[in-house]
Amino acid sequence: MTTYRLQVNGKQHAVDTDPDTPLLYVLRNELALNGAKFGCGLGQCGSCTVIMDGKPAMSCLVPVSAVGARAVRTVEGLGDARTPGVLQQAFIDEQAAQCGYCIAGMIMQATALLEKTPAPTDAQIRAHMSPNLCRCGTHMRILRAVRRAADRLAAGGKR
Ligand code: FES
Ligand code: FES
Repeated sequence: MTTYRLQVNGKQHAVDTDPDTPLLYVLRNELALNGAKFGCGLGQCGSCTVIMDGKPAMSCLVPVSAVGARAVRTVEGLGDARTPGVLQQAFIDEQAAQCGYCIAGMIMQATALLEKTPAPTDAQIRAHMSPNLCRCGTHMRILRAVRRAADRLAAGGKR
């Protein structure tokens, strides 16, 4: 066991765990941040997506020992049921969730896009979201939700 100091959603945490423990397990089991989900554990579905230093990362593939000083953000850092962030609200408005299992990863993937490319084309949205899979098949609603959030931000909406 080693102690790792992690910055998650702007807060510092100390976690005692083995170096090869996936960041996903640390978030869920040690920090009670259960938004990111275990889907495949192989980097093939995106349900575990978080943001590390502004880039989307599949947290099932990141050993905790590789996180270092990089800032980690999860869906819990975007808002909550009372005060959802713009992407969370857009996903609600488009009823993009069916079972919901993929949605936290989808929202974090989309967050990384809109922070880097605030006015994406539909093709850019589609390409950026392509690593994330939805078993329920709500991809078209998910794409519409990302479009809605981008348009809302372009109109001066708050993140
Ligand atoms: S659980 Fe990480 S990519 Fe599927
Ligand atoms: S809403 Fe069920 S997996 Fe996407």
